[in-house]
Order: sequence, then C-alpha cells, then structure tokens
Amino acid sequence: MTSLPVAEVTGLIETRELTKRFGDKVAVDHLSFTVSPGRVTGFLGPNGAGKSTTMRLILGLDRPQSGSAMIGGRTYAQLSRPLATVGALLEARALHPGRSARNHLLFLAQTQGLPARRADEVLDLVGLREVARKRVGGFSLGMTQRLGIAAAMLGNPGVLMLDEPANGLDPEGIRWVRTLMQQLAAEGRTIFVSSHVMSEMAVTADHLIVIGRGKLIADCSTQEFIERSSERSVLVRTPDGDRLRELILAEGAQVRPEGNGGDDGVASMVVTGLPAPRIGELAASASVVLHELAPRLASLEEAFMELTADSVEYSDRSAR
Ligand SMILES: Nc1ncnc2c1ncn2[C@@H]1O[C@H](COP(=O)(O)OP(=O)(O)OP(=O)(O)O)[C@@H](O)[C@H]1O
Ligand SMILES: [Mg+2]
Repeated sequence: MTSLPVAEVTGLIETRELTKRFGDKVAVDHLSFTVSPGRVTGFLGPNGAGKSTTMRLILGLDRPQSGSAMIGGRTYAQLSRPLATVGALLEARALHPGRSARNHLLFLAQTQGLPARRADEVLDLVGLREVARKRVGGFSLGMTQRLGIAAAMLGNPGVLMLDEPANGLDPEGIRWVRTLMQQLAAEGRTIFVSSHVMSEMAVTADHLIVIGRGKLIADCSTQEFIERSSERSVLVRTPDGDRLRELILAEGAQVRPEGNGGDDGVASMVVTGLPAPRIGELAASASVVLHELAPRLASLEEAFMELTADSVEYSDRSAR
C-alpha cells in the first residue's frame, strides 16, 4: 500500500508548555511531551482531561494561548504537504450521507492533489472494499470509523493521530484497530492515540502519556506505568486467617478479605503495605501455614484510577 513516496517529514510530535484556555477554564496547562516514531503512544486521561483539545492544537485547528506544538520540527501551518505528513481521525466527522465511501475518498484525494488510486488502496487497508460503492449514510458506526481511518491514511502520512478510534467499535473492530496501529508503528510511523479506556491501552500502547486537568501526570512506558503504581498487593491464602491477620495488622499493613472468604476453611486475603517475603517470614515465625503467597501488580486500570484520582473532573467530590 506504500505506493506514495514516504512523507517529507516523519517523526516527532513535540509540544512545549502548550496552554489553552476556554474563558477561565484551563483545558491544556503547560503541557510538554514528545511522541516518537516506531511505536504506539497512548494518550490517556479521564473525560475532560484535555486530550481532544491537545490533538486539535497539534493539528492547528485551535490556537494555544502560549506554548507550541510541532510535527517534525514544524507547526502544522508550516507543513508544505500537511496530509502527506500527518493523518488524523478526530470525532466521527460529518460525512455527506448520499456519497459513497469511494467517492468520499476520491473527493478528499482530489482536493489534496493525491492520485485517485489511493482511494482504493486505503479502502483495502481498512477492509471496506466490499462496501466501497455504498452510501455512507447507511454505514454503521464501526464502518464510519474505518472510513475515517482510511481518510487519515490517504496521504500515506508518517504521523497518525487518532482520537478515541475504538469508540463504538465491537470487539472484532477494536482488535482490528489495535493490530493496524501496531503494524503502522512497526513500519516506523508515529502513532498517537487517545483513549480513556485503560484496559485497551494496556494491550495496544508501548508508551503512555497520561494527563489530568490539562497537566502531564505520566510519560513513560506502559510497563513502567503499571509498575510505578504504589498499589502493590499480595494475595495470601491460609487456613489460619485470624492469626495471620493479627500479625500483619501489627506491622501496620492493611488486609482485606478476597472473595467470599474460604469455603474450605482457608481464608483468602489481599495484603497491601507489606512485601511478600515479609509476610512469609511473619507466617513462619508464628508457624502459620500458607497455601498461597502471590504478589500482584495493579492492573493498568487500577494504576490509572490511582494516578488520576485528584484530577477527575466530573467526580462526586468535585460536584460539591
Ligand atoms: N470549544 C470549547 N469551549 C469551551 N470549553 C471547551 C471547549 N473544548 C473543550 N472544552 C473544555 O476543555 C476541557 C478539555 O476538553 P477535551 O474535550 O479536550 O477533553 P478530553 O480529554 O478529550 O475528554 P473526553 O475523554 O471526554 O473526550 C473540558 O473541560 C472541556 O469542557
Ligand atoms: Mg476527547
């Protein structure tokens, strides 16, 4: 599908102290980060965190009050062939409902000086060849998302920005988008994808940029993000639950029962604030038998909730 020359500018997306206010509301707050080629970078944050606004600023669709956003060292306005440099899928865009998918893409290709054959190439890429001549007005949400990705790929850009591409997709569609993003990243492209769904990013993104209330919270590998989470816990199963609980509480750690507490007289509990080896020592010192002693890493979802707890915009707490 790479029948076009590789984009003139590839590589980095870079924001520096990027700041955008709407009235007295700060949507993006001195945000600095870099998105590198060759991997999928997840852009995470709770609803209202400023993800879409940041993407619009990078694409020159909004003007920042201060700071800058560059693609390959240039602002969007400075790109000589913008659509061959960066492709974007923002919210489900307004399509002409009477136009066919192919005509929609041909129209876009024409306005951008791209060869007509690109329309067919990107239809193949997103699996819409069969319905290429159907009216887009009758498309499902999933088909519309695929068409949006096809449009983003028309200019064969080296940088791809997708705002919540999994929205409205069924599990098969979600898997398809994930595989496509990983393939495009493996080709050396820069893939920047927003989501507020952690579990999806855990299996999609190599790197994460997490924001809350417009501010940077984390910029690290997905693995590091999970490991950095302070909520480390250990699952313990023992037939002598009461005794072990006492010992653990005496060390100042926390214990909570796991599941419905043991049908076979074996208590299951989750301990936080004490590493597994120390729990084993405590148990041995009191001759408490252990059936299981298993350190658990927080899931990405838990890590995310914990990190962004102070920056959730529409929580019960902030509704006061
Ligand atoms: N055009 C606008 N006018 C006024 N406020 C806006 C505008 N666009 C965004 N905002 C506000 O800026 C903040 C950031 O919004 P943004 O849409 O960028 O968040 P988001 O991270 O994309 O959220 P979501 O996960 O819900 O898509 C929100 O408080 C939002 O209400
Ligand atoms: Mg958004």
